Amino acid sequence: MNVLVTGSGAREHALVWRIALSPSVKRVFAAPGNPGTAAMTDVARNVPLNPNPEAFEETARFCRQNDIELVVVGPENHLAAGLADYLRDMGIHVFGPGKRGTMLEASKAYGMDFARRYSIPHPRFESFETCDAALRYVEKTQGPWVIKTDGLALGKGVTIARDRGEALRTVREYMAEGAYGEAGRRIVFQEFLEGREVTAMALTDGDYMIPLPLARDHKRVGEGDLGPMTGGMGAFSPVDLTGEGSGLEDRIREEVLERAVAGLKSEGIDFRGLLYAGLMITKDGPKILEFNVRFGDPETQCVLPRIEGDFAGVLMACAGGRLRRYVEESSSAGGVPLSVRREACVTVVMASGGYPGAYRKGIPISGLDDTGLDIQGAVSGPEGRRQGEDRRQGEGEVLVFHAGTKTQDGALVTSGGRVLSVTALASSLDVALGLAYRKVESIRFDGAFYRRDIGK
Ligand code: GLY
Repeated sequence: MNVLVTGSGAREHALVWRIALSPSVKRVFAAPGNPGTAAMTDVARNVPLNPNPEAFEETARFCRQNDIELVVVGPENHLAAGLADYLRDMGIHVFGPGKRGTMLEASKAYGMDFARRYSIPHPRFESFETCDAALRYVEKTQGPWVIKTDGLALGKGVTIARDRGEALRTVREYMAEGAYGEAGRRIVFQEFLEGREVTAMALTDGDYMIPLPLARDHKRVGEGDLGPMTGGMGAFSPVDLTGEGSGLEDRIREEVLERAVAGLKSEGIDFRGLLYAGLMITKDGPKILEFNVRFGDPETQCVLPRIEGDFAGVLMACAGGRLRRYVEESSSAGGVPLSVRREACVTVVMASGGYPGAYRKGIPISGLDDTGLDIQGAVSGPEGRRQGEDRRQGEGEVLVFHAGTKTQDGALVTSGGRVLSVTALASSLDVALGLAYRKVESIRFDGAFYRRDIGK
């Protein structure tokens, strides 16, 4: 089948790469994609489609003209704009929820209230629509205060204020000064939870689900988890939860993922896509910090290399609302649709100096392979699939997923805050870290920085 993936980040590069490895896939189109997906010329091609509602018809026409059987929507703003609903109404299979399902992520207050309705363990929370009421709440409560914009803020719009002054400043910044525009019109306070965070993702057709391996990301810009929040500076998988209690993976599946899928179904929300649970593992077990409705970034870059099987076939079964049957058919044939490799995978984000604040763009990138678009392991086509298999026999596999890059006068330059996700899959986390950091050190651009403590 032919597949269209929307988006242009490292997460979408990883999706295009993994989908291209599926035996059921003939061609993958990335809309708009990035120089990494552009380099996968055997099976992938970039197409300049945009996700805005006025261009939905153009996307639908492209799908009809190119025999696209499945559209995988990458970023949340494409979903929030209604792309999945529009394409589904046109009879195209889509992996990604419609606008109703997207509310889980698009409104933090809705997501927390959903958790409360379906007994999904969650922190106490309060939401406010006026700045005065939010300020009064800070005055009469004790910190620390976890303050979030209700709406989408590109992974930012979250502050943990340890003193009252900072909490009051944050409320004013979000609500009165409009630091995040409409997203901060309403804010949510969440109880501050102690513990370690973990990301649980599941592929679902709204009825049945397949959980993906757990991952942990590093959200703050600085080593030791210091400094402002970012979209994510690195991630690793698997996550060893044995030190935090027994049976935690089962509890995450049963108390969070299954209850969420059942809750969506009982509300009549036809959720065909990726359910993301950002969790805190507390002494009382897992508690939901946030739901998202799309693949995590950078978690996807370290989870997909660990997945074996017909990934695109599973996404298609979700999009077609027949995941349970698909799994049953695989098991009666003596298999499972997806299996998880035992190896560890890590991804290290290389960012532009200044990120997550202001940064320069257009800076030449060197140290990638001869093509200038190094995607080692990001192989393409049947030939590439075989090469990928061979490469896994060695010390490990290195993949460089592109995010904030573009080609300018034939050269690769920076074009965003998070520039590359340098990923390695190997027999252990330590070996994977060694491989990833060796690759990172060979890539150069002025102002480049990365955290040296990913996976630690
Ligand atoms: N890594 C966090 C997110 O994808 O929202």
